[in-house]
Amino acid sequence: MYTTKPNKLQFRQLLKYVFFFSHSSSNFPLKPVPGSYGLPFFGAIRDRLDYFYNQGRDEFFATRIQKYHSTIIKINMPPGPFIAQNSRVIALLDAVSFPVLFDTSKVEKRNVLDGTFFPSVSFTGGYRVCAYLDPSERNHTSLKTFFLSILASKHSTFIPLFRTCLSQLFIDIEDEISSQKKASFNSLSDAISFSFVFRLFCEKDPSTTKIGSKGPKMVDKWLALQLAPLATLNPSSFLKYLDDLLLHTFPFPFFLVKSNYKKLYEAFYEHSARILDKAESFGIKRDEACHNLVFLAGFNAYGGMKSFFPTLIKWVAQAGENLHTQLAHEIRTVVKQEGGVTFQALDKMILTKSVVYESLRIEPPVPFQYGKAKEDMVVHRHDASYEIKKGEMIFGYQPFATNDPKVFHNPREFVGHRFVGEEAEKLLKYVHWSNDRETKDPMVEDKQCPGKDLVVLLARVILVELFLRYDTLRVETKKGIGLASSVTITSLTKPTST
Ligand code: HEM
Repeated sequence: MYTTKPNKLQFRQLLKYVFFFSHSSSNFPLKPVPGSYGLPFFGAIRDRLDYFYNQGRDEFFATRIQKYHSTIIKINMPPGPFIAQNSRVIALLDAVSFPVLFDTSKVEKRNVLDGTFFPSVSFTGGYRVCAYLDPSERNHTSLKTFFLSILASKHSTFIPLFRTCLSQLFIDIEDEISSQKKASFNSLSDAISFSFVFRLFCEKDPSTTKIGSKGPKMVDKWLALQLAPLATLNPSSFLKYLDDLLLHTFPFPFFLVKSNYKKLYEAFYEHSARILDKAESFGIKRDEACHNLVFLAGFNAYGGMKSFFPTLIKWVAQAGENLHTQLAHEIRTVVKQEGGVTFQALDKMILTKSVVYESLRIEPPVPFQYGKAKEDMVVHRHDASYEIKKGEMIFGYQPFATNDPKVFHNPREFVGHRFVGEEAEKLLKYVHWSNDRETKDPMVEDKQCPGKDLVVLLARVILVELFLRYDTLRVETKKGIGLASSVTITSLTKPTST
């Protein structure tokens, strides 16, 4: 590069140059993305059958990583024909490449919430609700500002309201254990999650409205019809083609759930008048705000809790008595010192916080993220770079990003203390459950979950209420139909001394 001996300035520039390239992943050779989509139509069906029945989700990705020696690969993602027009995606399956999906200057987030298909807008009152909007769309800005402002205004309600709901949960669990020797955590948790969300926004117990006690079932049906293309009933092998035909070939029509949705909408419309007034002051039409509120409450919030709370209990219960004893000790000591369950008290519970983050890391409640490349771009993994073309669909399978062995030691092991300590906390930037880094706050101009802090808070309060009441618990778990594990509580042990 230099024909004569470099002078001081040239030498400094040379050093900068060497430093830049030795610390930038852009010095890796640029490669085409490996993998295969197979033949049109048949390739998509082949991958769909492998994903749901022949291999299962994790093995589907793991075998392809092995086959192509890459964590960035071409695959077809379900549902494929005839629900999705194009099932071809570039999958990101490591911690380095995954975060490109958060960069909304590079990826478009229009209509990609569910992946390669977009459910009919009939499910949302004819509107494209916030979660389907790209931040460049004007409506996204007004709706997200509105949501963030409602949440801020409800801040002081979060802890007392959720504790009331949890008291009911533990009464119900104990009743079921005493009558049936075990309690189904999922249905009881769904009931209090719906109650919490409805009461938060409508300031009324849903059972005293026209919804009665049917809220969770109504939302479940509405969610199931929209998300069926991504689910399986896990049938025995000879029924797999029927399962595939029923769930993954044609979308379910809205009319099957129309009367349920109408009841939910009317209940929210009637009881959230103050919030809807506020929406109008943000320039959002009242009915559009209400359909958005039903989606926020039913899909985003209740749907997320439906997946996350059983997962949290599963991992914590299975971690064993030693961790339970440490959690109970921390929680009881801090609550005593602080004189109650307050924001400040929760913030002092270092181990409890770490356990919540570890649950969100090891099994993120929403495992899929999508975005369409806005321009030709280069995406890096640990040791290679790949070119992605404008218009290609990028898909991230989050459990592989947050279980990347190059970032987390023993990633498949649930380590309650993983995020305890200053150094360990730095790893929180690799925890992505909220559709961005745990170290970042949601903003109007991004797609990060505005409920991020609330979700982490609720999970901490669950652990606090659990270990204030009990020393330890036991569960049995199996694969659920949707994203949630099916969790049955088989025993709860009360403290022998207080
Ligand atoms: C355990 C519960 C929750 C989980 C796991 C969860 C997860 C997520 C994820 C992964 C996204 C991004 C989806 C994507 O674009 O790929 C998201 C977006 C969103 N979440 Fe949550 N969420 C939860 C609770 C909540 C709550 C309590 C609220 C509000 C009360 C909420 C409101 C939203 C909204 C409005 C969006 C769309 C954001 C945007 O378009 O910019 N979520 N959530």
